[in-house]
Order: sequence, then C-alpha cells, then structure tokens
Amino acid sequence: MAKNKLKKFNQYESFPNTFDARNLLKGKWHTEVFKNTNPITVEIACGRGEYVIGLAKLYPERNFVGVDVKAARMWEGAKLAMENNLPNVAFIRIQIDFLKEYFAPREVDEIWITFPDPQPQKPREKQRLTSPRFLGDYFEILGVNKNINLKTDSDMFFKYTLEKIEPINTQIKELLFNIDEKEDLQEELKITTYYERKWRESNIPIKYLQFQFI
Ligand SMILES: C[S@@+](CC[C@H](N)C(=O)[O-])C[C@H]1O[C@@H](n2cnc3c(N)ncnc32)[C@H](O)[C@@H]1O
Repeated sequence: MAKNKLKKFNQYESFPNTFDARNLLKGKWHTEVFKNTNPITVEIACGRGEYVIGLAKLYPERNFVGVDVKAARMWEGAKLAMENNLPNVAFIRIQIDFLKEYFAPREVDEIWITFPDPQPQKPREKQRLTSPRFLGDYFEILGVNKNINLKTDSDMFFKYTLEKIEPINTQIKELLFNIDEKEDLQEELKITTYYERKWRESNIPIKYLQFQFI
C-alpha cells in the first residue's frame, strides 16, 4: 500500500465515526452508535462520502451510514464529518456482500447508490450493485415502502437496473433520464460527488431512479 494510503487507512480506523469488521452492530445502530431513534439512510459504495455528508447537512434529524471497501476514500468523508460536527454520520469499511451482517431486517429506512461501477462485462454482472442478489439484501434490511435512490451516468447500468426491478414487487417513484431537465430539482439531487463532477465535465446526462419494494 502506498505510504499516503497507509497513513489514511490507519487514521481512518482511529476516527470515532468509523466502524469495521471487528464491530458487530447489527440491530444496534440506534442504541450503540447514534443514540437516538432517527431513521437511518445507508449509502452503498459511498467513496469519499460526499453524498452522506451532503444529506446529513440537509437532514440533521436523520442518521447516515456510508459503506465502501476503500478506507482511503472514506477517510475524506469521515474527516469532513468530524470537521463539520456531524454526529449523524458514520462509516463502515466492508464489502457490500456483507451488508446483512451489519444491519438487521428493516433496520434501514433508505438507501442511496451513487455512480456505482457499471461492471459492463457480462461475467461481472453479479458484481453490479443492483443485481438480484444485492436487491435481495436491500429488501431484507429495508423492507417495504422505503426508498432506494440511484444516480448514475451509465445508460447500460440504468437500463439493467430497470430490467431487474421490473419483474419483482417494486414501485417506481421517480424516473429521470437527465436530472438537469427537471424544474425545481429537489435539494438532495443537487448534491454532487467526485464521479458526478467527472461525468458532468464530459456532458454525460445524470440519470436518477427512486423506487420502493412493495
Ligand atoms: C465509481 S466509485 C463511486 C463512489 C461515490 N459513490 C461517488 O459517486 O463518488 C465506486 C465505489 O464503489 C466501491 N465499491 C464497488 N463495489 C463494492 C463492493 N462490492 N463493496 C464495497 N464497495 C464497493 C468502490 O470502492 C468505489 O469507492
């Protein structure tokens, strides 16, 4: 590991708002971490955590957990959350495959997925974060009538997700093929991440889908 990455990795682990495989928090997020009963939003593959930070500022009465496997990226978000005095933000460094080991059934109230790797190669399909196995895990930790929000640059990933949710019990709440075309865009959709800014520089339309399991 490069020296700078290693330094961030070690620092990340020492931050009070980060948790890892050694902490078993399933079913205990309200009591052990946030110490309140506010609803919990989880951002899947949060990278630098820009979305959870942005949402936490907008909604101080909600709790936010950023999940990613890369500590050096989440280091930035965890540091920013501390600097901004945001006690409603936490991070866990895990593979998304282990989500169900960290959240109890229906413990989560909302999910965001922003600019996931589209994994375009067919053999990598199972790694797509809206593949059926992941959707099953999201259903377990969310239950019904809770929002899943997806923002992506990728037409392929967007189409794939729509195809995967169509045959299961879901309801689309909002579908935008280019968020910039919507008048009065909601504040939470104006938050941008490193990857969103990157795709915007190339004039790629940003797509948004909100759906629920019913
Ligand atoms: C393209 S980046 C997007 C990061 C962030 N959401 C943004 O918009 O800037 C994709 C992120 O997904 C994470 N990721 C991909 N697959 C993952 C998995 N199975 N478990 C945990 N993290 C994963 C990567 O580590 C990376 O930070």
